[in-house]
Amino acid sequence: MKRVAIIAGDGIGVDVTREAKKVLDLVVRARGLGIEQVDMDYGAERFLRDGVTLPPRELDAIRKDFDAVLLGALGHPRVPDMRHARDILFGLRFGLDLYINLRPVQCLDDRLVPLRDRTARDVDFVVFRENTEGLYADVGGIFKKGTPDEIAVNEDVNTRKGVERILRAAFEHARATGRKKVTMSDKANALRFAHDLWQRAFREVAADFPGILAQHLYSDALTMQMVKDPGQFEVIVTCNMFGDIVTDLGAMLQGGLGMAASGNIHPGRVSMFEPVHGSAPKYAGKDVANPLAAILTTGMMLGYLGFRAEESLIETAVREAVRRKKCTKDVGGNLGCRATAEFVCATLTPLLGGAAKSSAKRSKRR
Ligand code: NAD
Ligand code: IPM
Ligand code: MN
Repeated sequence: MKRVAIIAGDGIGVDVTREAKKVLDLVVRARGLGIEQVDMDYGAERFLRDGVTLPPRELDAIRKDFDAVLLGALGHPRVPDMRHARDILFGLRFGLDLYINLRPVQCLDDRLVPLRDRTARDVDFVVFRENTEGLYADVGGIFKKGTPDEIAVNEDVNTRKGVERILRAAFEHARATGRKKVTMSDKANALRFAHDLWQRAFREVAADFPGILAQHLYSDALTMQMVKDPGQFEVIVTCNMFGDIVTDLGAMLQGGLGMAASGNIHPGRVSMFEPVHGSAPKYAGKDVANPLAAILTTGMMLGYLGFRAEESLIETAVREAVRRKKCTKDVGGNLGCRATAEFVCATLTPLLGGAAKSSAKRSKRR
């Protein structure tokens, strides 16, 4: 039996997670998957109600007793300093040592490609974002706060171990999925200590993967090339901050933030899955948010748990929703959040009955 914790979070995170859960329920029921779901009430409302963010004992329980976490999004106008979000989101990413932020940039329909003369085939790569250090390490401080002499520092923390393991994960993924090129992106021309480490580690790790082309692009050039010719990319690996930025750009190549899925992964351990988008407060509770990113994310989670066939069926159903414009406005349809998920469920139902049963029992992932 696999155990999945579900934290809907804030804003549209609540809306899209509710719908993603319906898809998960359907798949679990139709295929008889051994997955137990546990809803956890953490987010801004809870924080505002009783000051609780993510209690350390809950993090321990997740670490010990769960296989995956499905997260909606965090961020609420009434918690402007994101205190709760830092505890919950970073609590999970750092606390569970989820060093791979895997963000596929895959466009599911030609209609969604925003670039002239490009098709969905040109948008199909994955970003490996380092997820446990860099500028996100929360090392720094403010000195003489509020005075004209104040000094604010955030240290960019790059460890040999941290850099090497994300680089290795990117190459291993390339090898496992038959991709032939890994592009590492940094700003070694400006950040001559931290990103010098990235350069050296990249050369060393690349040498262990002789069949895979190791390419380097500075991150400013990367953003330019992602728009100019996205078809050249297969796997991109980069630091935490740049990975955050380029995956919002990547999301736009996929049809917008409503289409972008992501996994926060430590191979072999409990991992966390969340759409790339945030809580979009102005759309919260209005039945307008696109649930497809959250649904694809749920598929990714199932794949991680070993249910690869189900992951692929979910993707097929989402593709169909987009193709037939049975989707929300941001991706050219006129349905609401709920109706979009209903269409996905209706499309999935016959697929779940017909396709080969899951390979989960044979999976050796965990
Ligand atoms: P956002 O991703 O919430 O929204 C930006 C815009 O993208 C929205 O206004 C909307 O136009 C569009 N969008 C995003 N998701 C969509 C969806 N599912 N369907 C349709 N349109 C969608 O980014 P933001 O406005 O910068 O951030 C809002 C809050 O979310 C902030 O508090 C931010 O810190 C937080 N945030 C959280 C996460 C997370 O929890 N993983 C990720 C990003 C941002
Ligand atoms: C993301 C988000 C987060 C990040 C924010 C909410 C801290 O933008 O998951 O992409 O920067 O990692
Ligand atoms: Mn982001």
